[in-house]
Amino acid sequence: MKSFVQALTGVVFAGCSLVAHADSLQVRSMAASCAGCHGTQGVAQAGMESLAGQPKEDFLKKMQDFKSGKKPATLMHQLSKGYSDEQIDQLASYFAALKK
Ligand code: HEC
Repeated sequence: MKSFVQALTGVVFAGCSLVAHADSLQVRSMAASCAGCHGTQGVAQAGMESLAGQPKEDFLKKMQDFKSGKKPATLMHQLSKGYSDEQIDQLASYFAALKK
């Protein structure tokens, strides 16, 4: 019985690390969908805003303002609405950590 419990605990812990891994993979693949316009790793060509290295607070504010329609945009109104507040928070942390 004891070994069964130990085995079970092992499975639960292995499961946790898998979830954490899937999480960061999920954030990276969300961020990859921005790369088409904002550049690989968030560093854009001239004429487009880079996302890399934007302070988290600024990024969050811009995305919320796109969502609410407060910030003028051609494309980002629609795009920003496709992400939950939690996903935007994850993207903000991701891009803030990248080098410009
Ligand atoms: C199809 C092209 C396209 C894609 C894909 C795209 N953007 Fe944008 N983004 C734009 C354009 C164009 C602007 C300028 C505002 C506008 O006209 O919508 C912009 C502006 C922004 C800004 C404001 C930049 C600044 O400093 O003022 C942020 C933040 C942003 N995008 C985040 C994102 C994120 C996060 C993603 C991925 C989830 C993303 N964008 C995907 C085209 C795109």
